[in-house]
Amino acid sequence: MQMSKSEYDTLMDYRRNNVPLYNTQKLKLGVFGMNCSNGLMISEAPTSFRMTWEQSREIVMRADAMGFEIALPLGRWRGFGGTTNFNGTSFETYTWAAGLAEATKNIMLFATSHVSTVHPVVAAKQAVTIDHISNGRFGINLVMGWFRPELEMFGGRMLEHDERYHYGAEWLSVVKRLWTDNEPFDHKGKYFDLKNVQASPKPIQKPHPVLINAGNSPAAIELSAREVDFCFATLDKPESIKKHLAIKERARTEHGREIGLCASALIVCRDTEAEALAVYQSILDHGDREAARNMMSVLGIESQSFNERLAKSQERFVAGYGTHPLIGTPEQIVEQLANYSNLGLDGLVLFFLDYNVELAYFERNVMPLLKQAGLRH
Ligand SMILES: Cc1cc2nc3c(=O)[nH]c(=O)nc-3n(C[C@H](O)[C@H](O)[C@H](O)COP(=O)(O)O)c2cc1C
Repeated sequence: MQMSKSEYDTLMDYRRNNVPLYNTQKLKLGVFGMNCSNGLMISEAPTSFRMTWEQSREIVMRADAMGFEIALPLGRWRGFGGTTNFNGTSFETYTWAAGLAEATKNIMLFATSHVSTVHPVVAAKQAVTIDHISNGRFGINLVMGWFRPELEMFGGRMLEHDERYHYGAEWLSVVKRLWTDNEPFDHKGKYFDLKNVQASPKPIQKPHPVLINAGNSPAAIELSAREVDFCFATLDKPESIKKHLAIKERARTEHGREIGLCASALIVCRDTEAEALAVYQSILDHGDREAARNMMSVLGIESQSFNERLAKSQERFVAGYGTHPLIGTPEQIVEQLANYSNLGLDGLVLFFLDYNVELAYFERNVMPLLKQAGLRH
């Protein structure tokens, strides 16, 4: 049900005052993928990154101290094979976020939740619990799932592409009511038949934790414009953002709401451009081509976000799922981030070959320039 204009304005005031992702930083920043082995690098390039709790916590605590707004994990239940069994070792994301909620102060912790793997009553309760642990810093990244072998682990049939979003919309409608309705309710829909449904306490965030969605298909955009707070685009080049900006307009005109548009990016930043390019080349040279092939073959069939990119070489996949990499000196990185901001992007979740070491470098060498450029304060 759409809110009235004054209810909506009250909500946005509340968020601007209380929810880190609605702060006054011009370009929101996050760190992405450090709950899975190899992060987003389908590569055996040398790195000190290991998927352990100690490193995950250290990386997110560092990002928190740097003022980042988002800690975004990958939702992953099995690996992609190859020499690395890419992403084969991973932490479950609600429990990961709960642990990090205690270890951090300002950053928002997200769970990346494949909606078909968790019952809405359980998801709503887990989310509220983490929202309380973090004092209102929790959010859900809704994913419908595309990696068939991982969803087959749950025994259910995998729905056809657009139907996954219908399932997701019904799932979300139950979760939202659990977060906001004070009276018990019955729910009878296509996928759920639930009696006397109730949940207490309610989330700290009003009316509910921040929601993001990272699909780019028409079905995903439809759901995002209507229901979520931030949409994450998959960008093969910066200019591609232009077509994604339409979602903001659609949310505004069709649903009377403002939504943010973010993206993800590999950062390879070194003192000289030549060094940065050499590191990027090393990621490609050490690529686990078999794992990349396995992933690309599933993505081509099950996802509508990636079809065009599949025609290109595996290189982009090896270094970040086909998204546009940002490579260069600190000045060049800031220039590219400013370009994104000027094109209309509200934020970026960053990933690195060696999270801890490179985040520290980013803090020393890039953050001051981002401030000078007016992207951060
Ligand atoms: C920033 C970002 C993070 C994502 N994280 C995950 C993830 O952790 N697990 C997953 O299965 N899919 C993830 N995806 C994939 C999307 O959720 C979605 O399944 C994919 O884009 C295909 O959806 P579509 O065909 O509707 O565009 C992510 C995508 C983006 C852009």
